This record gives sequence, structure tokens and C-alpha cells, in this order.
Amino acid sequence: MQTLLAILTAATGLADGPTAPTFWMPQGASTVAPDVDIVFDVINWVCYFFFALIVVAMVAFVWKYRIREREHRFRMDGPTHHAALEATYIIVPLLLSGVIFFFGFRGYLDLATPPANSYDINVTAKKWQWAFTYPNGAVASGAVEGLVVPAGRPVRVVLRADDVLHSFFIPEFRVKRDCVPGRVGAIWFQCDYPTGMDPAKAYNLFCAEYCGTDHSKMLAKVYVLEQAEFDEWLAKQANWIEEIPDAELFTAAGPRLYAQCSQCHSLDGTAGQGPSWQGIFDRIRAGTGKFTNGQSYADLIGPGKVYETPEDYIRDSILNPGKYVVQTFGNVMPTFKGQMSERKIEAVTGMMKHLDQFDAKGKLKAAAK
Ligand code: CUA
Repeated sequence: MQTLLAILTAATGLADGPTAPTFWMPQGASTVAPDVDIVFDVINWVCYFFFALIVVAMVAFVWKYRIREREHRFRMDGPTHHAALEATYIIVPLLLSGVIFFFGFRGYLDLATPPANSYDINVTAKKWQWAFTYPNGAVASGAVEGLVVPAGRPVRVVLRADDVLHSFFIPEFRVKRDCVPGRVGAIWFQCDYPTGMDPAKAYNLFCAEYCGTDHSKMLAKVYVLEQAEFDEWLAKQANWIEEIPDAELFTAAGPRLYAQCSQCHSLDGTAGQGPSWQGIFDRIRAGTGKFTNGQSYADLIGPGKVYETPEDYIRDSILNPGKYVVQTFGNVMPTFKGQMSERKIEAVTGMMKHLDQFDAKGKLKAAAK
């Protein structure tokens, strides 16, 4: 009943917020959500109806035709054919599945055809985070800023995957599409209900395709901003790192950038998908670590070697992480090419060198401020 009410209000244009969550569905916050929900509800009620019908008939027949005598009697003169019954059980399901197909296919075509005035955002999925690139070149990370979109206009997300299959899924918008390596897909949505930059109100982006160890942590918030607010955020996003004074580069920008690294690189020595950053700079400078190809840090890093300086090696490990992989770890780190400017790399490297100023979560310690 609640769902029906929500659908009716949405259909009559009276909805002034996302549709209420139901037992089966989270709140519906996009323009396609009511259409998706009505198809879902119809299929659901058809299932309830036939489930009840079949179970009741089954129990009744089991009771009615149970064996009452020890002697088995087989009647050979029962009906072998009943044209009306057969026509019914062919035509009724055919009509039902035809109706379901029609509405399902219509909805699919709507979702697959972005309106011409859509706003494009590039989304790249990689193990295990999301990266969002905006038309002005701004890059936001799923782990830090989340996906920020303008309200009240269609948004087309162009989907790519860097490594394995992922799936872009925003339940509140009723949109889901796989991100396939080597292919570029797209999906679109429009949300008319701004959330501001409030994580409690924001919608959720999930990865809906099992993509390895930290699949379940491949999450991001979806913030919906009024156009003016969005424009302001976007302008700031493009050059936030430039606005930080040089003297505060690693203390201010480091923690924000580290949030993208924290899933795999701990600061307290705990082994993760990648080496802990604890003591990392000393290790590199001392040349004591080894790579999976058997060479040691000292073989590659130093004047006249592959990497002149430890900083040079760190920079290349961020941009080309697969080139030299540290022993006992897998080649799983995605490249940050195009996402990490030289200034961002400088900030991260600075943080690595001064980890004593940060706590185990990457927050600047009070004393260091
Ligand atoms: Cu990416 Cu699951």
C-alpha cells in the first residue's frame, strides 16, 4: 500500500522528496525509480499470487489423492487431454510475460538512452576504489570526496574498468551497470533531490560485482548539489591542491590523499594488500627491501641507477606500480596516472617522510599542527 501510494504521488508529480523505502527497496531518488519500482512490484505480486495458488493446490491435492488403502489401484480411463485447460496455461503466462517484457524492455531502453543534454562524468573502477573525472579535468576519488553530481539534470556516467570486472550500482537511483575492462559503457540518471555535502543524507554507490579481496569496501557516497553549489564545488575541486601553501603541503594535503591509499597501505606496520608505509622511506633509503624479480632496492635506487633518488622511485611506484613489485606482495596496485599530479605526489612523499607527525589513521597529530 505504501509503495502504491509512493508510485501514485510520483506519477502525479506530487513527490517532493525521494519515495519512501519499502521492505524490498531503499528510497527511490531518481526520475526512473518510480518506473522501476512499479515493474518490480507487479512482478512481485504475480509471484506471490502464483506461489500461494500453487502451494494451496498442491497441499489440497496431496490430501485429496492420498493412498487410503493398501491396494494400489490405477485408473486407466482418466482424461488424457483438456483443450481449455491447456489453452489457459499457455495463454495466461504468455500474456503475463509479454506485459512484463514490454515494461521491462521499455525501462531498459530508457536507461540505455541518455538524454542529449546530459552532463558527462567519467567513472573509472579499479581494485578497490572509484575515480571520477569531470569535464573541467577535476578528479575526485570515491574514497575521499565521493561522487558529486548536479541536481535536476540528467547525468551520464561513462564507465571504464582498469583491471577486472566491477559494477556501478546506486540502489537509490535504481541504476546498475557493469564496468568491463577494455570497454566503455554508460548509464544515466537524474536526481531532483539535493543532499548537500552531508554524508548522512547522501546516496550510496556500491561495487556490485565481486572483484577481489576488498570488493566489499569499494564504496562511495553520492552527493547531489544544486547547480550553483555544484559549479562552485567543481571549480574548487580542480585546483584544491594548488591552493594549499607550499609550507603546509604534506601536512594539509597528505592526509586527504592518503585516504585513497589507506585500504592497502597501513601506517602502523600491519601488512595489507601493499607494504605498510611505516618506516618506508628509511627502508628505501637503506636499500634493504627486495623486489619480486630478486633485485634489491639498492640494485635499482641510487645515483646512476634506474632511480636517482628514493623520491624518484616512490613517484614511479605511484604512476607505474607494476614495474617493480615488492617481494611477498602481488601486482595489484592500480596506476594513479592522470589522477596524481606532481604536486600531489610531492605531498604524499612528504607525508611518507614525516610519518611521526601523523597518527595510525593518517590524521595530523595535534602536536604537529
Ligand atoms: Cu569492484 Cu567489486
